Amino acid sequence: MCGIFAYTGEKDAGAILIDGLTSLEYRGYDSAGIYLPDSGCIKAAGPVSELRKKIPGGLKGHSGIAHLRWATHGEPTEENAHPHSGEAGEIWVVHNGIIENFKELKEKLQKAGHTFKSSTDTEVMPHLIEEHMKAEPDFEKATFKALNEIRGTYGMAIQYKNEPDKIIAARMGAPVVIGLGEGENFVASDASPILRHTRQVVYLHDGEVAVLTPTIHSIYTLDALKVERQAEEVDWSTEVAQKGGYEHFMLKEIMEGPEVVENTLRGRLIPEQGLARLGGLERVAGRLGEMERIIIVGCGTAYYAGLTGEYMLEEFSGLPVEVELGSEFRYRKPVLNNRTILLAISQSGETADTLEAIREGKRRGALTLGIVNTVGSTIARETDAGVYNHAGPEIGVASTKALVSQLTALALLTIFLGRQRTMAASEGSEIAAALLALPEKIRMILETREAIEAMAKKYAASRDFLYIGRKYNYSLAFEGALKLKEISYIHAEGCGAGEMKHGPLAMIDENFPTLAIAPQDSVYEKMLSNIQEIKARKGPVIALTTEGNTDIESLTSDILYVPKTIEMLQPILNVVPLQLFAYYFAKEKGLNVDRPRNLAKSVTVE
Ligand code: F6R
Repeated sequence: MCGIFAYTGEKDAGAILIDGLTSLEYRGYDSAGIYLPDSGCIKAAGPVSELRKKIPGGLKGHSGIAHLRWATHGEPTEENAHPHSGEAGEIWVVHNGIIENFKELKEKLQKAGHTFKSSTDTEVMPHLIEEHMKAEPDFEKATFKALNEIRGTYGMAIQYKNEPDKIIAARMGAPVVIGLGEGENFVASDASPILRHTRQVVYLHDGEVAVLTPTIHSIYTLDALKVERQAEEVDWSTEVAQKGGYEHFMLKEIMEGPEVVENTLRGRLIPEQGLARLGGLERVAGRLGEMERIIIVGCGTAYYAGLTGEYMLEEFSGLPVEVELGSEFRYRKPVLNNRTILLAISQSGETADTLEAIREGKRRGALTLGIVNTVGSTIARETDAGVYNHAGPEIGVASTKALVSQLTALALLTIFLGRQRTMAASEGSEIAAALLALPEKIRMILETREAIEAMAKKYAASRDFLYIGRKYNYSLAFEGALKLKEISYIHAEGCGAGEMKHGPLAMIDENFPTLAIAPQDSVYEKMLSNIQEIKARKGPVIALTTEGNTDIESLTSDILYVPKTIEMLQPILNVVPLQLFAYYFAKEKGLNVDRPRNLAKSVTVE
């Protein structure tokens, strides 16, 4: 996720801001930029070290704003890097989030004579403030007016060249922390760049605006009503602050699940018409209507997302779907033509095997699409069109929130393609409503994490684990096992529940636990029979089932309860306790959860 940092005080602002950006680097980013009223704006694509190279002698000034950009709209280029300014180069903005109504605002501003230099959503903000200042040249008032016009998410810091001491910060859905020093104040996306200067902080709430000078900090609502808020003392280390107070990035990223779903869905559903609006597919929408077949490619967790996607897309779009491992697809002679969609799923957008599959597909005339989290990554660039996840950077090596967003994006794609074909509007509306209800249900699951931790502790001495599931949850059996083995190094296997009797059942005894993913859906009765088979061999069973289902108690040793949603979306909820279970299991074993041995986050080799 982008990082913002701002300073106003007496000291060397340039040095403080660059230093602050360095402690925000962990968030992942693709370009950096800084603005000081006394020195101007400097930007660089790539790491903070590239920005440093551009200012060998340092910068002049005692206030400024700075930014690390993780691209959401527009490629990760220098032009698109923040800060962004208005026409006159006097209003400057750094922004973390997405302005949903930027297109209509941009059109209005262009009609009023504004020209835009970047393809970002953020750039509308300084222009909007500038436009309001034409009517009344009051920076603060104009900023409040502009904030009331934009829709979407933001953590923002704004500066006006002619009032260099003043920084205005605002929050809606993206975190903003105010640091209170002696004769100096700070704004940041999280406390990590502030802690070396002060431990007194104020957390802005959604819909709040802070106006800062070196000695004053005032907080207001968006209606300009004053808010009284006590400062808090932070006793975290910088490292803990980077993890949002969690012990590991993996836990932080699992806990981000609700926001991740919200961000993947944001602005993309028209529930009353049962439609999905996917801007990234617009230019190929016509061709998509003519397609006859889908092949999904991915590796590891992304491949398992594809397996669930297969069920969604086949059931609701009527298109035949196959799912292939990138690492196998590239060595076959796949039969493809210009009526085939080759859909790559990748968090990093750099996985070599998936990328080569896309290149092979292109050579054979397929229409290539991506569900990719990293904007501007190679797969995002090389596919014909695609859907960005908007999950924010994933730092823990084990993929968690990316999978939640991949499944959500697949559901959106299902509505999109389904509505071009056989899906009724009412069916689209039903899926849309269920999608919008997911964040709250994920929150409910996350609240049960202590019980999941206790269960993981109970089983942490096991040397083997089996995961079983069917239909929509078939892939989760493999994903649950992958999560456990990659971070706790124990033998874990996934198995389609119906396949047990064809071999794996032989492994089961009282020391071989099974986690059965058995929500009350269309294959629930079948799952119960499989659980019976295991119980008859004295195998301990943890069941993951629907909240309120007490019938299963007599068959199982432990139960993980999950709220109900429609069958096709149930895996988006079910995967969360599986991730938490693996996390606490590995933590109990004292392992390096975020950096498991032998693994890399981005696999750019064959
Ligand atoms: C497992 C995991 C990997 C990745 C795989 C694909 O937790 O993280 O299996 O899912 O390496 O990576 P991306 O999605 O970047 O293509």
